[in-house]
Amino acid sequence: MEFDFATPVERRHPEQGTWPSQKWHRYDASVLPLWVADMDFRSPPAVIEALRARVDHGVYGYGMVPDSLRRTLCEWSASEYGWEIEPTWQLWLPGVVPALHLASLALTEPGDGVLTITPIYPPFLKVAERTGRLPQRAAMVPPQASGEQWRLDIEALEAAITPRTRLLLWCHPHNPTGRVWRHEELAALAELVERHDLLLVSDELHCDLLLDEGVTHRPLAAAFPELAARTITLWAPPRPSIWPD
Ligand SMILES: Cc1ncc(COP(=O)(O)O)c(C=O)c1O
Repeated sequence: MEFDFATPVERRHPEQGTWPSQKWHRYDASVLPLWVADMDFRSPPAVIEALRARVDHGVYGYGMVPDSLRRTLCEWSASEYGWEIEPTWQLWLPGVVPALHLASLALTEPGDGVLTITPIYPPFLKVAERTGRLPQRAAMVPPQASGEQWRLDIEALEAAITPRTRLLLWCHPHNPTGRVWRHEELAALAELVERHDLLLVSDELHCDLLLDEGVTHRPLAAAFPELAARTITLWAPPRPSIWPD
């Protein structure tokens, strides 16, 4: 498959009527819009062709998730991460952010605590409030010197847990710090989640966008099988593969 990472696509000043973008229009021209994971390259040809074929069909009624799509996800999970998953485990939704909200509604009761760490991809911070749950937060430790990374403060996370805490919204790898969590950090997290009998939503949208050499991603539920029964893993095709949502 040929990828074109050389031809710029004009999105700040698109021709009239051609798809103005939130990315390039939310702020004025002096701002370089790094605020959103929205690619400026064209999607891969196979994606464009598949969409074209779908559009050419001309009937856009309620569709089904094809078995082939479920199987493809199983194969990808096994080949990329050595994690054997089943088609029946999958629930296909229109987005990761809707999935965060749905998980809160499905797994917790009104007034339950929904915990997350900060900083975090901003929509996480609205989930508890929007679903009538109690927002709970624990701060990460900022870098103390240049070249250092943000750190998970496991003590602060534990201190934020109360008897009302039911759900932890986790981001792995972490947006916005770019942290790819180390196994020891995740092991401490897994122990905490089990000990406090929490449920876990692991947003793994950025799992294949790893920039540091030698770094690998391991789905949380695969790395800690004892967590699998209390974990919802969120995956999405769009980023960084430049697919449409
Ligand atoms: C960590 C994370 N989760 C979710 C999203 C958004 O996902 P969606 O558009 O599928 O709701 C983003 C977008 O940048 C993100 O960085």
